[in-house]
Amino acid sequence: MGSAGDIRGTLRRLGRSKAVLALLFAALLAQQAPNVVRLAQKALSDEPAPRRPDVSYVPTPQKVVDRMLELAQVTRDDVVYDLGCGDGRIVITAARQYGCRAIGYDIVDWVIDMARENVAQAGIGHLVTIENADIFTLDLGGASVITLYLLPDLNVRLIPQLDKLRPGVRIVSHNFDMAGVKPDQVVTVKDAEGPYDDHTVFLWTTPLNKEVPSGEVSGVTPR
Ligand SMILES: C[S@@+](CC[C@H](N)C(=O)[O-])C[C@H]1O[C@@H](n2cnc3c(N)ncnc32)[C@H](O)[C@@H]1O
Repeated sequence: MGSAGDIRGTLRRLGRSKAVLALLFAALLAQQAPNVVRLAQKALSDEPAPRRPDVSYVPTPQKVVDRMLELAQVTRDDVVYDLGCGDGRIVITAARQYGCRAIGYDIVDWVIDMARENVAQAGIGHLVTIENADIFTLDLGGASVITLYLLPDLNVRLIPQLDKLRPGVRIVSHNFDMAGVKPDQVVTVKDAEGPYDDHTVFLWTTPLNKEVPSGEVSGVTPR
């Protein structure tokens, strides 16, 4: 079994063109063997599969980043968390511009590598760290400013975590609101750098100002 004679016999039975195809297939298999072994090892290991991101990486234009941090009135005493930090531009800008500490969280390995590389290149590693973490399992208690560029439903999904924050924490979101929570301010930023010109920035401050669903009267007990 597997001897040169056996193989020649098999190839003869297959005919010339099928034999060529079979040889090509065998060569391909041999070439891919290390990858197949790696995949099998990964599948059998205890390592959990990486969690899929809830939204893809799209960077906020620098002009909008600057306006977000301005609107949040960042000072050097703040700690800025960017939830889903992408290339780290928001945390790097916060630290450079205001001298504050800042932490960027992301869940995608190559994005985290890129952000860490950018932090190193900016020489700001003493103020900025990039963490690999799922933002929906984070304790946000260390933040005094939170920046977001996610999606409307993801902002809403963060509300239980934001409700636990101490009073006075500023939250700014690029483009997306938070249904059920009234913003303190909404501003438009014109910028031609990206695929569209008009960007919106929302600001909320904790405790969150929840909208009262229509039909309910807030805080008043009827006599
Ligand atoms: C639209 S980008 C925003 C990047 C950056 N904040 C900015 O404004 O330039 C959203 C980022 O969130 C990350 N992300 C998605 N789901 C996540 C999750 N559950 N936990 C942590 N990061 C997540 C993505 O990998 C992506 O880099």
